[in-house]
Amino acid sequence: MEYAKFAMGGNIIAMQTMTVARARQSASAGQSARLQGWIRTRRDSKGGFSFLELNDGTSLDNVQIIADAQLPNYESEIKHLTAGCSVTVEGDVKESPAKGQETEVQASSIVVHGWADPETYPLQKKRHSFEFLRTLAHLRPRTNTFGAVARVRNAVCRSIHQFFQEEGFLYIHPPIITASDCEGAGEMFKVTTLDLARVPKTGSAVDFTQDFFDRPSYLTVSGQLEAEIFACALGKVYTFGPTFRAENSNTSRHLAEFWMVEPEMAFFELNDNMDLAERFLKRIFSDVLSACSDDMQFFDKRIEKGVVATLEGVANSQFERLPYTEAVDILKGSGASFEYPVEWGHDLQAEHERYLTEQHFKKPVILFDYPRSIKPFYMRVNDDGRTVRAMDILVPKVGEIVGGSQREERLDVLSERMAEQQLDPDAYWWYLDLRRYGTVPHSGFGLGLERVVQFATGMANIRDVIPFPRVPGNADF
Ligand code: 4AD
Ligand code: MG
Repeated sequence: MEYAKFAMGGNIIAMQTMTVARARQSASAGQSARLQGWIRTRRDSKGGFSFLELNDGTSLDNVQIIADAQLPNYESEIKHLTAGCSVTVEGDVKESPAKGQETEVQASSIVVHGWADPETYPLQKKRHSFEFLRTLAHLRPRTNTFGAVARVRNAVCRSIHQFFQEEGFLYIHPPIITASDCEGAGEMFKVTTLDLARVPKTGSAVDFTQDFFDRPSYLTVSGQLEAEIFACALGKVYTFGPTFRAENSNTSRHLAEFWMVEPEMAFFELNDNMDLAERFLKRIFSDVLSACSDDMQFFDKRIEKGVVATLEGVANSQFERLPYTEAVDILKGSGASFEYPVEWGHDLQAEHERYLTEQHFKKPVILFDYPRSIKPFYMRVNDDGRTVRAMDILVPKVGEIVGGSQREERLDVLSERMAEQQLDPDAYWWYLDLRRYGTVPHSGFGLGLERVVQFATGMANIRDVIPFPRVPGNADF
């Protein structure tokens, strides 16, 4: 906390920096305050004073500053303030006679820290397209929308940690660099210090013994396998960090670098897993609604009409649960025309998932018991031999938000599944050890942070809910 000291009637009074969020509250009227932030607009009144709209990121709304012509730098500086200039304002918070605000600040001094030439500062217009703002990743946090997204994203992260900490989970940290492909989809970024212009070879194969890690290494696609190690020792754990996928999909729901939270629980079967995931999602959405009510009103008004009601609905609804096989029957009998045909044994496409959650059930849907052939090796095989204990949670607009499963805890079945998917058991010896020594039924899931923020805010493109989106062809800044 910073303090400014100034003399008043011979006494030194400490003036605390006040946030714009606080200065806007009627309870702050009558207090002296120091505010620091960036100018959004300036309007000069004929009466010889100016109105400045100040924002410091602590709230969607600005606080109005009244700058009288008597201020010593009024003509030389204040009358030249434009959008983007940074200032420190000292003054008194007063009740405001104006509509739409409870308070305003009568400035006793305004110090300008930095100018923002209106000829070149790009954020002059009130509204810019999100495509344009993506080219200005360094400035877009100064806009209403991206400020609100950042606050909601923060509220989601706080809620994630609070939920798991209250439930007695341990936060653990799997490695970012790994040699194993958890999802088996071959969508990993390679990590190497080899000179790409002169790759060492033995015959036609790359000689990885000369590489930094002595073997092919990658950025992790998921911390699940390592989370299983800790769950099989400590009970209930979760990871929360960046994950990487080199899938070349230019969609509004995919990133090459995204954040995932992955709880993993010993002695949990699939139903326990579904119960936890449902409770977890509801908690996140109700926390966002209460922690970010102004931001959520903004999203409701400007970004997606009805998003607040949707979140309230999800927080209070019971998710629909049905097996994959029944979902296929519903889709086949729907009469809807899909671009991709629906066939048992094929992965559901986004259009199918959205049909189920948006049109058919009109609420979140948990699909479970997927065909074994389309799911990774670690999922527990059901007694029917054809399906595995997988579960995906689908929500309107976004589609899949959670993917998880009960894990295969039987050594023989797991070994068979690995052979089926041509995985080298030697590379996973430690994973198999977890089944050799004190194996337990266990389950977990992964929730994509950006998909949650997308759903909560109604933002159409996932690139606009992460500060610096990494997508094919873009890693600039
Ligand atoms: O369904 P996925 O691939 O599951 C796993 O990685 C498991 N190992 C999780 C586990 O059981 N511990 O991914 C989980 C979630 C998805 O449901 C989605 O929300 C998100 O991660 N996700 C992505 N988000 C943004 N961009 C991408 N490319 C994503 N891929 C997955
Ligand atoms: Mg998935």
